[in-house]
Parts: sequence; C-alpha cells; structure tokens
Amino acid sequence: MIYVIGIAGSPRVEGNTEKLVTEALKTAAEEGAQTELIRLANKEIKPCDACLSCRKTGECRIKDDFQEIFEKMIKADGIILASPVYFGSATPQIMALIDRAGYISGARGRVFENKVGGPLVVARRAGQNFTFAQLLFFFLHQGMIVPGSTYWNIAFGREKGEVLEDREGLRTARNFAKKIVWLIKKIKNLE
Ligand SMILES: Cc1cc2nc3c(=O)[nH]c(=O)nc-3n(C[C@H](O)[C@H](O)[C@H](O)COP(=O)(O)O)c2cc1C
Repeated sequence: MIYVIGIAGSPRVEGNTEKLVTEALKTAAEEGAQTELIRLANKEIKPCDACLSCRKTGECRIKDDFQEIFEKMIKADGIILASPVYFGSATPQIMALIDRAGYISGARGRVFENKVGGPLVVARRAGQNFTFAQLLFFFLHQGMIVPGSTYWNIAFGREKGEVLEDREGLRTARNFAKKIVWLIKKIKNLE
C-alpha cells in the first residue's frame, strides 16, 4: 500500500490551494496510491514556542491539531505540502506545522528520512518561486526525496477556483504526483 497525503496550507476552504492539491491527489490515486487531503483551514496549529521540551520527550508540549496531522505525516510514504503565497511567503499555518514537525522529527531520529514529496504553490501574481523554495527547504533538510515535474510546481489563481483555469499549473501538479508515486513504487520495490 502506498499512502500519499496532501496538506493544504490555506486558511480558505475549497480555495485554489485545495483545488491544486486535490488534482495532484486524484492523479496519485489513479496511479494506485491511497490518498488523503488534509486542510489546515479551521485547524489550530500554534507556532513553536521554542520550549525545546521535544528534545527530551520526542513530543510537542502544545496540544492542538498538530499531533493528529503529524501522525499522518509519519505514516505517509508521500507528503505534498501546498500553500498559497501570502506577502511573498508560505502561510503562517503551514510554517507552524513545518517548524514543529521538523524539530520533533530531529528529536525522534529523523522520521521523514527517505519519504517522497515536495511543495505545491499557488498565487495571484508573484512569489511562487520564493514560496516553493521556502517549502523545499523542509523536504531537503529532512532527508526527503523530491522528484521534479514538467515545470516548477506553481500555479496562478486569485479568487476561489481560478486555479482550475491554469491548465499548465494543473498539468504540472498532476505530473508531480505521478512522479511521486512512481518513485515510491521504485523505493518500495513494488514494480
Ligand atoms: C494575506 C494575503 C496575502 C497575499 N499575498 C500574495 C502575494 O504576495 N503574491 C500573490 O501573487 N498573491 C498573494 N495573495 C493572493 C493569494 O495567493 C491567492 O488568492 C491564492 O489563490 C489564495 O489561495 P487559496 O484560495 O488556497 O486561499 C495574497 C492573499 C492574501 C489573503
């Protein structure tokens, strides 16, 4: 079984980030993966407060929606982190998740090592590449394997659903998902 999760880091339900990641997950499912969309909208993920207790316990002292998502990230073979661009950056919600997941991963002996995945980014006009790089730092820092697609994984859209008009953006997301599942199959010797 191949389990691929897509985390939509927008506070907006059914927005462009969610549409883009859904498109990628649909493709991953067609390729044989079990998939799950995880929305950060309506979830509470507080920022890391640098208490550093996770270094000793391997757990986050802050109890909120983080724990449930982190467990799914640990179980997943493939992780897609998707964010809209907010003032040239990924959203605070997804950065809070990354900060806490990354630190606890270190405390537990690097739980994301050799998982496959990467970022998906959407914006109205500019900042996609910066945000793409920002999210990429997490994957590379954690020893994850990031496949390429037919372009960088970025798309355009402002109002809800507009991203569905960006045909190249959608195609890039689909090809990225296809490559994720292809790579996981190779790694797990499933083909
Ligand atoms: C607070 C805020 C900041 C934004 N900053 C940018 C930006 O820097 N560059 C840009 O092109 N679009 C920016 N946008 C537009 C969003 O990236 C765009 O509407 C995107 O499609 C939202 O994704 P969503 O529908 O998943 O929420 C911003 C939107 C908001 C609400």
